[in-house]
Amino acid sequence: MPRSTRINIDLGAILHNAGVLRAAAGDKHVMAVVKADAYGHGAVPVATHIEGTVDAFAVALIEEAVTLRDAGVTKPILVLEGPHCSVDLALCVHLNIWPTLHRADQLDWCHALTEKPEQVWLKIDTGMHRLGFQPVQAQSITQQLKADGIKAVVAMSHLAAAETPDSELSVTQKTTWDSATTHWEDETSLHNSAATRLATPARSTWARIGYALYGGQIEGLERDPRLKPAMTLVSSVLATRRITQGDSVGYGGRWTAERDSVIATVPVGYGDGYPWAAADGTPVAIGEHLAPLAGRVSMDMITVDVTDCGEIPCDMPVTLWGDQPHIDTVACHAGTIGYELMTRLTQRAPRHYLR
Ligand SMILES: Cc1ncc(COP(=O)(O)O)c(C=O)c1O
Repeated sequence: MPRSTRINIDLGAILHNAGVLRAAAGDKHVMAVVKADAYGHGAVPVATHIEGTVDAFAVALIEEAVTLRDAGVTKPILVLEGPHCSVDLALCVHLNIWPTLHRADQLDWCHALTEKPEQVWLKIDTGMHRLGFQPVQAQSITQQLKADGIKAVVAMSHLAAAETPDSELSVTQKTTWDSATTHWEDETSLHNSAATRLATPARSTWARIGYALYGGQIEGLERDPRLKPAMTLVSSVLATRRITQGDSVGYGGRWTAERDSVIATVPVGYGDGYPWAAADGTPVAIGEHLAPLAGRVSMDMITVDVTDCGEIPCDMPVTLWGDQPHIDTVACHAGTIGYELMTRLTQRAPRHYLR
């Protein structure tokens, strides 16, 4: 009998979210960010399902782009980390993959290539200080690239705090971006999920949207009820037991019963990607109830206080995250972000796709 613990991926929800975000992006082109296996949702099934609704895809690595091309994805693919060597760059040209250029040796590889990429994305460091050229270099590098025969140079940068557009950091980044891209001839790209949802006024003809596409809510922004969570981590009750006031549960005896209690054991653990750091009280949906996690997460199991849930039979369905509880709520109880929970699920729990 197959294990009840599995990851349901609703591709229809991703398609729906893509439509919501396309509307929010206005006249910008929409690039679906499908790096890290589409934030844990499966890059090939996601990209092939939404290819007709988005204008391009972004991945972090060349290998991720090659996987999409091998699966028959034909829309443009941007590689955010750019080429790691000249062979990577030649592969970009061969597979019509857009490289991001963010450091000097990538420019040298470009210069040396006989067959040039049609389009490159030039990363400008506007203040995140992770990748990119200095803003003052942007125009001269572009001239050099154009002189080398590259037809289009898209200016791009990344906001470190897009959810707070009025913060000092965001204002500085937007001002720097604005002056670096004044009179930019080709396309530009600044917006991520948060900036797209906020319709942050800044030059940007391409929105690069990841987390919101999968139904993630951005911390600090008002919840957008139109975004449907695409990932549901489910399981079912493996066993229940009655314990007496004062008994403790799980490793280290972290949780102690303040009254006679009923504990349900659910076969999902950090070996599947459920966060070890989840605190007592993290909500778990059991049947119709939201019950609190009780005790430390084990590799293969969690324990839940179902004292107030009435009769809980073995095999009762359990939802760890999905519509309820939302992944961002679980993340909050585990001191992390939904992005991390989505991307660190292991291969042990099988993924089931709904269209
Ligand atoms: C360069 C770049 N652009 C866009 C995105 C998408 O951001 P989000 O998932 O918040 O939409 C990311 C995410 O890490 C990124 O690194």
